[in-house]
Amino acid sequence: MKKHDILENIKIEKLIFGGSGLATASDGRKIIVSGGAIPDAMVDLRITKSKKNHLEAQIYRTVKKSPLELDIPSNWQLYGGCKWLPIPYPKQLEIKEQQITEAFHSLKEETADTTWHSIIRSPDSEHYRNKVEFSWGKYISEREGKHDEYRFGFHVQGQFDRIEDCWYCVLADDVTNAIFKDIDVLARKSGIPTYDPKTGVGFWRHLVIRRAKMTGQTMVIFSVNGIFESGNAAKKWTKEYLLTEMIQQLSKKYESITSIYFLENTSRADVVQWNQVLLYGESTITDELLGLTFEIQPKSFFQVNTLGAEKLYQCVIDSIQQKWGTLLDLYAGTGTIGILLAKEFKKVYSVELVTSSSEDGQKNSDRNSVKNVEFVNSKVEDFAKEFSSGWGKSDTIVLDPPRDGLHPSAIPHILTFGAREIIYVSCNPATLVRDISIMLGKEMSHETTDIDATDIGASKEALEVKNLPKYRISDITPMDMFPHTHHIETVVRLERI
Ligand SMILES: C[S@@+](CC[C@H](N)C(=O)[O-])C[C@H]1O[C@@H](n2cnc3c(N)ncnc32)[C@H](O)[C@@H]1O
Repeated sequence: MKKHDILENIKIEKLIFGGSGLATASDGRKIIVSGGAIPDAMVDLRITKSKKNHLEAQIYRTVKKSPLELDIPSNWQLYGGCKWLPIPYPKQLEIKEQQITEAFHSLKEETADTTWHSIIRSPDSEHYRNKVEFSWGKYISEREGKHDEYRFGFHVQGQFDRIEDCWYCVLADDVTNAIFKDIDVLARKSGIPTYDPKTGVGFWRHLVIRRAKMTGQTMVIFSVNGIFESGNAAKKWTKEYLLTEMIQQLSKKYESITSIYFLENTSRADVVQWNQVLLYGESTITDELLGLTFEIQPKSFFQVNTLGAEKLYQCVIDSIQQKWGTLLDLYAGTGTIGILLAKEFKKVYSVELVTSSSEDGQKNSDRNSVKNVEFVNSKVEDFAKEFSSGWGKSDTIVLDPPRDGLHPSAIPHILTFGAREIIYVSCNPATLVRDISIMLGKEMSHETTDIDATDIGASKEALEVKNLPKYRISDITPMDMFPHTHHIETVVRLERI
């Protein structure tokens, strides 16, 4: 079995974390399947990698649809960003819950007396995103005989230079879809070329629409390239066009649009850059979470599923059993968790790496008249070292790191704080289990589960934590913030023994 070989009539056994399918080849090797695997489907696969212990393959043809597969409504559209749309939502929840159980397989003994809570579902399974980023571009493929100079929607998965047209994003709300459609019509009509990342020429690049779920306020952000091919008839349109025609039409039609930004991005990088100019309305929009208000600038971090975030934060709040003393909100973003919990604690430290997030946190804290949160703009690993070597002790710690998990050097310091409870909020079960194993002083085995094929050995840190305060895993709660995607959040409560 080698690269490019076709394997026929293979059954997808299950989905693993990351969204790939799992199947078994005739020689017993596991196959990691990409390309929209659904459990129980029979497929033909094309091998993309042949390794000693496993194969990787792409779905080449579906022989028999999975009995689970839904026919999605004809006005909905299936993208890389909502790959699980054909799987019924209750089944998605079951799969995610199962994946968390499997992720903790290597901590079987340590979770024997843990309380496992049922997965918390997102209040909305569709239309839940409060921020959607669309891209302009092209779709040129000689092999497929396609040559479209104007496309507006989302990137074809893994292809930076190809855009798939969007006609309806089921994760966005109706206002976002309607604004997107109108801008599409206006941009098409303008005749101004879309940006080509290969040549750096063209105008339209990205459109970001942010909606405040609770107040309905809407922010529209155009990201464009200032460069045109000389002599291009469209040249006269550019900013003038945006400033007059488009803004007038949009603001007249949509009362909810309270700010419109314009970003000129001449760099080749495919990112929405932030040298923003406010063209219309207010500089920020305001949203609410569990009764507190939060101001959102174009670049502010704010959880994209507002109602889901309320559920997640409520779960964190409820997980803390003794609310007094000092709270450390580590990897704090804009400080939402610390601000929500401030009235329960004497002092809160919100530690965050990104300066603008700490600044936004301070503003949010002031706006809500919260006085006892101190924003520390620092790496958690540096803060932890300093705090453990003098500043003091903490009673409760909330950890909400990015996908990579905790920095290993921070773990022994975090444990020396001697907190009664540590609440770990994770968006990656593999690094969650790795970090908890280290925190419990457990030597990491190099045995991998099919959930995570990466090498997660970390025995040096495990040895370092052996003589520090001991914890047990008291509660595990999976949470679905991102229906129709493979992403899962987990809230784990560790209790000091
Ligand atoms: C998952 S977000 C947490 C957001 C926040 N708790 C919330 O709910 O809004 C992770 C945050 O960690 C920050 N971060 C990443 N690495 C860090 C580090 N080494 N030290 C401190 N913060 C870091 C990121 O900038 C990001 O804001």
